Order: sequence, then structure tokens, then C-alpha cells
Amino acid sequence: MMMHATLSALFLGALLTVSLSASAVNLTISCGAVGQEQDFCKQATSAWAKETGHHVTVTTPPEKSNERYFQYLIDLGRGDSRTDVYQIDVIWPGLLAKHFVDLKQYISQEDIQRHFPAIVANNTIDGRLVGMPWFTDVGLLYYRKDLLEKYGLSVPQDWSELMDVALYVQTQERKAGQAEMWGYVFQGAAYEGLTCNALEWIAAYGGGTVVGADGAITIDNPQAVMAIARAASWIDTVAPPRVISFNEEDARRLFQRGNAVFMRNWPYAWALLNAKDSPVAGKIGVAPLPRGGVKGMSASTLGGWQLAVSKYSKNPAVAADLVRYLTSEAVQKQRAIAGAYPPTIMGLYEDPEVLAATPFFAKLRPIVENAVARPVPQTGEDYMAVTTYFWDAVHNVLQGQGTAVDNLNALENQLRLVKFRGGW
Ligand code: GLC
Repeated sequence: MMMHATLSALFLGALLTVSLSASAVNLTISCGAVGQEQDFCKQATSAWAKETGHHVTVTTPPEKSNERYFQYLIDLGRGDSRTDVYQIDVIWPGLLAKHFVDLKQYISQEDIQRHFPAIVANNTIDGRLVGMPWFTDVGLLYYRKDLLEKYGLSVPQDWSELMDVALYVQTQERKAGQAEMWGYVFQGAAYEGLTCNALEWIAAYGGGTVVGADGAITIDNPQAVMAIARAASWIDTVAPPRVISFNEEDARRLFQRGNAVFMRNWPYAWALLNAKDSPVAGKIGVAPLPRGGVKGMSASTLGGWQLAVSKYSKNPAVAADLVRYLTSEAVQKQRAIAGAYPPTIMGLYEDPEVLAATPFFAKLRPIVENAVARPVPQTGEDYMAVTTYFWDAVHNVLQGQGTAVDNLNALENQLRLVKFRGGW
């Protein structure tokens, strides 16, 4: 009898293993590459794989958003089925929609409704949900609380005050022996990150968003010219000359070493800056970006990432289940606590554990809701051309190649041509 029971258990076990491995699939996800993104992606995907019996390979795309876009465009353009799930930037759903499945087929309305409606709307193209919101992003001002306290200074409210404080503290700290100290670091390389920074400088002074909501090209205006000229004056005064080759991580590393008073970056930097081995742990404050003068406002560019399932995936239903899991409340909560990735699930902004780990999230919701969007809907397929011309023109000014007046004037003409050809 005993023998019989053991044998049938063995048989059942073998059967289960066979059926599990027969239905187990191999998925590939391309996750972000900035900061801790890969580690977090690997942790969460292996938790899902353990739960479901499937296998997941995590691949690493280029760090810069625009380079990643072109790699994805090439893969998707040739119907490559090797990647099932793509992490896509907030500016891409419209550009890549035709390559992705409608996630409404696989994910319940109840799950979808937990996310910010505006982000869901941004992922909905011609009625199809082409991406599930994963985390949102806004530009923030990081500052050295300890240094402001040391000199009895408060957090600057507008850009010129920021530069005065940056220069003062930089000078004093250098005198005190901190030879490497700089006032301000940001993302100044010629790439999408510079578009985000420059949009913030310009929008804060009421200089618009390069292209207006109606499609009119607005970049050649006095507020925009002055904002870019002002930014150029920071180079080698309060910002290191090499800032014009900085991406997010370059700025974060310099600031984390303790070599800058202020930094512009996205929320993810918070977790790394406060990690146990960080020289600046516990010394950092976070504030909205400065206003554009007394009459101006604080402008943060809206960023953020979604997960999309490729139409060329051999296992779209299983891939969509991975997306459902990764964007779920439990995973977003864990990422918010350990990685400071701002959730897209609204309820998490009131979660005591999230707020204890990342206190500034309590003030983040209005910043997200009022953030400045890049001119994507107006320019459609031409957005990548518009942003490339824009960051190139700004980069020229930052590196002293021509004035802001001349560069923005030339940019306006280039964009007119793009618009004419694109017919928008
Ligand atoms: C962040 C933002 C993204 C933006 C990128 C630029 O990752 O979330 O939207 O395009 O930075 O570097």
C-alpha cells in the first residue's frame, strides 16, 4: 500500500514537472539602464518567474533615452521577436504604438484604473492601451542641506537666487579646502536629457515649450533666448566645464561624491544618494526646481516609463502577465521604497511606508500633475527630429558655439522646415 502511494506521488510529480516545463516559456525584457534600474528589474522579474515557472532574460539597452529609442525602432521595425517586453519612455507611445499589443485584452480595467488617468491616456493610442504605466518622473532640485545650514542660507526660490547661492557656497567651500566643489550640476550632454533641462529653464520664464499646443513654432522668443543665454553663463562659473557631456548618472555621481551644492535630477537619485555607502547620505534636501524670476513659475519636465508588449512576441499573453505583475501595486510599492521610483498608482502617494522611505513623495503629486510635457502630440512622428535640433542648438550655446540669439533663430528656421515637410 505504502509502496503504491509513493509510486503514484512520484508519477504525479513527474507529470506535473512535464506539464509545467511544457507550458513554461522564455521571455526577454529590455529594462532601463540608469542607476539601479537593472537590479530592480532583475529582482522583480525573477520573483514573477519563480511564482509562474516561466523564465525571463533581462537585457540592457543604451543608457540614453534617444539611443534606446533608435535601437528599439530598428528591432521593432524588422519584426524582431527576441524581445517580448520593452520599457518605453513617456514620449514614445505614439511613435511606437503600431508595434505593440493592446494590453486591455490582458489586463483588467480595475488594474488599469489605479493609475493616473493622464498617464493611462498618454499610453492610449487610437483606443489601444499600448503601455502600462510603470513609474513617473519629474525634474527636481537636490541640495546640500548641511551646506545651506552651515552658511545660514535658505533653499533658493528662483534661478538667479540659485546661482548666487551656488557661487557663494562654492567659493567658500573652495577656500575651506574643498578644491573640487562646484555650485550646480545638471544634464548638459547633447541628448534627450538636455531637452528636458532646457525645457524647464525656458518654461519657467514663460518662454513656451518649443512648439505650442497648436503646432506653432515658438522657440525664437526673448524669454527662451534669455533662459538659454543664462544657462550658458553657468558653465565654468558655477558648473564644471564637463557638465556639457553629463547625463543623469554623471551628475548624480559628482553630487554623491560631495562635489556640488545643487543638482537637477529625477527622483531615482534620492535612493542612491541616501544609500549606506553614500558620502552625502542624510545631507540632502529635495525641492521643486526654481522659478523663472519673480513673475515666473517652477517648471518640471514630465518623464516616466511604461512597459509594452511587442506585437512580434511569440507569447504575448504570458508577456502581458509579466507586465501586469511588474506594474502592480506590490512591485511599485517596493520600487518606491527601495529605489525612489515615483509610482503611477495614485494610492501609493498616501502609503505611510512609501512616505517614510521617501518623504518628498508627499509633495510630488502636484509637481507630477503640473509638469511640463514635451511637444510630442503636436509634432507626432517628427518629435525626434524636433528634440534633436533643439538639444543641438542649446548644446551649441552651452559650449560657446554661437550666441543664444543666433542659435535659437536658426533653430526656429530648421523647425519650420521640419514642420513644412511633416505637414503638421
Ligand atoms: C528620464 C525620464 C525620461 C526622459 C529621460 C531623459 O529617464 O523619465 O522621460 O526622456 O530621463 O534623459
